[in-house]
Amino acid sequence: MTIYEVGPRDGLQNESAIVDVAVKAEFIRRLIDAGLSTVETTSFVHPKWVPQLADAAELLAGLDLPAGVRAPVLVPNERGIDRALEAGVREIAIFASATETFAAKNLNSTLDDQFAMFTPTVQRALGEGLAVRGYVSMCYGDPWEGDVPIDQVVKVGARLVELGCHELSLGDTIGVATPGQVRALIAAFGAAGVGVEKLAVHFHDTYGQALANTLTALREGVTTVDSSAGGLGGCPYAESATGNLATEDLLWQLDGLGIETGVDLEKLVSTSGWMATQLGKPSASRVVQALAG
Ligand code: HMG
Ligand code: MG
Repeated sequence: MTIYEVGPRDGLQNESAIVDVAVKAEFIRRLIDAGLSTVETTSFVHPKWVPQLADAAELLAGLDLPAGVRAPVLVPNERGIDRALEAGVREIAIFASATETFAAKNLNSTLDDQFAMFTPTVQRALGEGLAVRGYVSMCYGDPWEGDVPIDQVVKVGARLVELGCHELSLGDTIGVATPGQVRALIAAFGAAGVGVEKLAVHFHDTYGQALANTLTALREGVTTVDSSAGGLGGCPYAESATGNLATEDLLWQLDGLGIETGVDLEKLVSTSGWMATQLGKPSASRVVQALAG
């Protein structure tokens, strides 16, 4: 079971206030100290598109990551991979859209043209020996287009795998999925030759379904789950997106199921409480609310 922590990236990209680079570094240090061994730290996207993460190079230069910790970053294009390589990154994630409208809004591209951007980016990354994860966004619903045809999602994901992504993270960007859809999508990927060992799940919790969806994915055999400390998260280019599945809520469930993660829940709750104070608002995580008070 791998917990893929996205708080510093998905969480902080969506805050209206720009968090100081020293606070970001402290957040990442504390997440690692709590036992999280995969932490998506930041994005090398256009700094005007996501000013919250414009300090990516400075942040990474100041981090002293312990051996064995994976610290992937988001990269959309060739300029992004240049910047990531300069910063010494060893693992990246590209992020595709399953819909035409979100490709336009999030990547200034089209459903087809996004691959023209990703192909040389992934080739360069693989050539440099980097691991590449692929996200697919709007897997279960899109705020502008409504339902998203499952074949369209699978087609986008399968193309990312063909490009050389070792893992596909299926994004419920706006948090509308329900368990039946999750089961159906995992089965559709399986039928297309992309088995559960290649899949990760990424739920936002807008409609309170993230934990139920996660449990469904675990039962289908998925072993990598994305989550965000304190339930921070969202996407600045999909306004209806709220926070991610909270890492603390996920841990509570996994502990109850007897699944070992090596993460110290108390330390994590204290980290999210500290981060909430920094951001000046309470944590969205139910477990943080229950344990911190
Ligand atoms: P564009 O404006 O079309 O870029 O943006 P361009 O290729 O036309 O280039 C324009 C200028 O930007 C050029 O500079 C480039 O060098 C520069 P100029 O020649 O004019 O001086 N540029 C860059 N500078 C720095 N870093 C770069 C970069 N790229 C170009 N990487 C682009 C296209 C893809 C760059 C833009 O749309 C972008 O940055 N989008 C990112 C949006 C984003 O980060 N969204 C949130 C992450 S996705 C998400 O949250 C979903 C997820 O969590 C999963 C889920 O929940 O579903 C992952
Ligand atoms: Mg997300």
